[in-house]
Amino acid sequence: MEYIFTQDELQEIARHVAKYPEKKSAVMPALWIAQEKFGWLSNEAIKLVATTLELPYAHVYGVASFYTMYFKKEVPKHLIEICTCFSCGEMKGKELLDFTKEHLGCNAQGFSADGKIWARAAECLGACDTGPVCQISNRRYRHKLTEDKLKDIIEKLRNDEELPYERIPLYDQTPIED
Ligand code: FES
Repeated sequence: MEYIFTQDELQEIARHVAKYPEKKSAVMPALWIAQEKFGWLSNEAIKLVATTLELPYAHVYGVASFYTMYFKKEVPKHLIEICTCFSCGEMKGKELLDFTKEHLGCNAQGFSADGKIWARAAECLGACDTGPVCQISNRRYRHKLTEDKLKDIIEKLRNDEELPYERIPLYDQTPIED
């Protein structure tokens, strides 16, 4: 695989760089763009970000290794992170994670038997009042999880379906019509 950014990707990184007084402040969005492109952050991908932003490799690696949303090993395309913390734990978050792994036939790394999905526990996702909660591939949340809801999520991910934003009545600001 060739580790280069396209002109469009370089322009996107330049837009992020322009927001800050120092180039190094754009390291997180640049890593994100690299992860979206390559699927995970290999040494080569991290080096590409470092070269593009004219930063030391060690600095970029330090950022990439600090945050769990950056993947430092090759992983399946889709990720289900189920919160097992405080409130979600009380609402069977751990049991739902076990259910998900079993349903997927996960190995010890949490990778599904078909290699398309992985599941792991998450710390508090900041949506405790609508738990148990999960986050899908660093993007969408799903609230008030049940086994059936997880089965539906898994089915959609297996088919690479786009998961839309989930409206929560509690937070839905759409004006109510009589
Ligand atoms: S405890 Fe699960 S979102 Fe806070």
